[in-house]
Amino acid sequence: MAAGAERIDFVFKVVLIGDAAVGKSQILARFSRNEFSIDSKATIGVEFQTRTVVIDHKSVKAQIWDTAGQERYRAVTSAYYRGAVGAMLVYDITKRQSFDHIPRWLEELRGHADKNIVIMLIGNKSDLEEHRAVPVEDAREFAQREGLFFLETSALQATNVESAFITVLTEIF
Ligand code: GTP
Ligand code: MG
Repeated sequence: MAAGAERIDFVFKVVLIGDAAVGKSQILARFSRNEFSIDSKATIGVEFQTRTVVIDHKSVKAQIWDTAGQERYRAVTSAYYRGAVGAMLVYDITKRQSFDHIPRWLEELRGHADKNIVIMLIGNKSDLEEHRAVPVEDAREFAQREGLFFLETSALQATNVESAFITVLTEIF
């Protein structure tokens, strides 16, 4: 193959959703560029990043979309979900409210996305254990009841971010 040429077997669109400041953009920065920023700015509109991974000897290009948690900065809902085959539903383990809003995000997702979409519930900021407000069991039970995958991650410490995306991409596949 010519230098620089990249053979892509599949392109999968994955969307990130969840309340403002739960860490969606930093999860994406960690996965796509292995970066993290403590003074991350709130997302306005839509951004996306890609990363190509090899799964089962196929190269899979993940196109990951990120939008604002805050209503007034959000992207047009239907366009955001269109064509998505995976979703990361993110809350912050130190903010109970961000977990309590998960059913609403799930409802919006199910109302707009393909019915076969693969969904991963993510409890982010697992490095802040001393400020935990959401027991891991509550989230695990919710995920089980709703048929979602579940992992706690830390974008800061790079814990489980890779596993979360690889699990979703493998399952889509
Ligand atoms: P919106 O774009 O407003 O919807 O927010 P967001 O969900 O994209 O949050 P963002 O990634 O901008 O992160 C918000 C804040 O949380 C920033 O200060 C991040 O540095 C911080 N943060 C994100 N992930 C982690 C993490 O795993 N651990 C810790 N301690 N802080 C994190
Ligand atoms: Mg953001």
